[in-house]
Amino acid sequence: MKTALITGITGQDGSYLAESLLRDGYRVFGLQRRSSTITTERVEHLLEGGVTLISGDLIDENSLIRALEKTEPDEVYNLGAQSFVPTSWDQPILTGEITALGVTRMLEAIRIVNPKVRFYQASSSEMFGKVQESPQTERTPFYPRSPYGVAKVYGHWITINYRESYGIFTVSGILFNHESPRRGLEFVTRKVSFGVARIRAGFQKELRMGNLDAKRDWGFAGDYVRAMQLMLRQAEPDDYVVATGETHSVRELCEVAFARVGLDYRDHVVQDERYFRPAEVHVLTGDASKARRKLGWRPETDFKGLVHMMVDADMELVAAMIRSGAMTK
Ligand code: NAP
Ligand code: GDD
Repeated sequence: MKTALITGITGQDGSYLAESLLRDGYRVFGLQRRSSTITTERVEHLLEGGVTLISGDLIDENSLIRALEKTEPDEVYNLGAQSFVPTSWDQPILTGEITALGVTRMLEAIRIVNPKVRFYQASSSEMFGKVQESPQTERTPFYPRSPYGVAKVYGHWITINYRESYGIFTVSGILFNHESPRRGLEFVTRKVSFGVARIRAGFQKELRMGNLDAKRDWGFAGDYVRAMQLMLRQAEPDDYVVATGETHSVRELCEVAFARVGLDYRDHVVQDERYFRPAEVHVLTGDASKARRKLGWRPETDFKGLVHMMVDADMELVAAMIRSGAMTK
């Protein structure tokens, strides 16, 4: 039986990855940082079924060393990050500490405790930022546009550096935006799907949005965690772009999401400059042909299917909140 340690297990991807690893027969440990509120909502259903949480923080080197000594993993998936782009302008130093230096802390812990551990780094299409070519591949130069993007570029290169310096099996997955009903409420897809459900149920009339012309290559998180696992199972470590290759605007996202419940987004969506970013990533489109060729990976959920899945889930969630009294007019 193989053992995996996941940082960021309480996040969107951590929960899908843990489920997938359990299905593959892994013993799964997840690093959980201390918080005064409950953060295990997304993995609650797995705590009885094989996932063990262990306390630690990417800011605290000793906690990572202890986590590795205690869990003795074969594979480490480093998904922990300050991952919300706008927050990275408000807290650039914290973002650097967690999202950039946190990677080095984990790599150092691996080097000290067991350099045979295989390491996955959650890199991001945000690294391409002001894109230098389209579509973006593993060879496209980076031009990050946010402190978050800059921190991820550092994480990407330090991952490659530990591979080349110490021969550790490290891989960097350059994943384009991926979403699900478990997405945080502040990210655009979930903000829209939850907003649509609240509007449909009569709890609000308006949805205030930022740049409706921004375009993203959106996929389903459940598909993308499979690519992470496949990368660590190759004979040689390498880096891969993971994307659908299809790009849609935030405006199209609103159109499809509102139409799902019989509404016209133009009656409800208001563009509000308060949500504009100091520097925008206008358009991202990934070319995942290397992942298709070498990993045999391909996405199974398309854009429309993804948006419908998220709206349907939020319609059910809002209905359940009304029934339980958690949401009242
Ligand atoms: P997410 O839902 O925001 O989850 C982030 C996770 O990181 C949470 O479990 C969070 O814990 C944890 N974390 C934050 N600070 C930490 C710290 N100091 N020490 C340990 N853990 C910490 O993000 P996601 O969407 O699942 O994304 C997973 C990873 O992939 C992130 O690194 C993200 O930057 C990257 N990525 C995401 C996408 C995407 O479209 N989703 C695309 C490319 C790359 P709490 O629950 O305690 O906050
Ligand atoms: N969040 C948000 N809220 N975004 C909005 C809004 C809004 O009201 N209105 C328009 N947008 C636009 C943003 O300006 C951006 O261009 C796009 O929608 C997507 O925003 P997010 O969903 O917040 O995601 P992101 O692309 O900035 O970052 C996500 O994807 C990265 C991969 O490219 C995050 O998951 C990152 O952690 C990840 O690395």
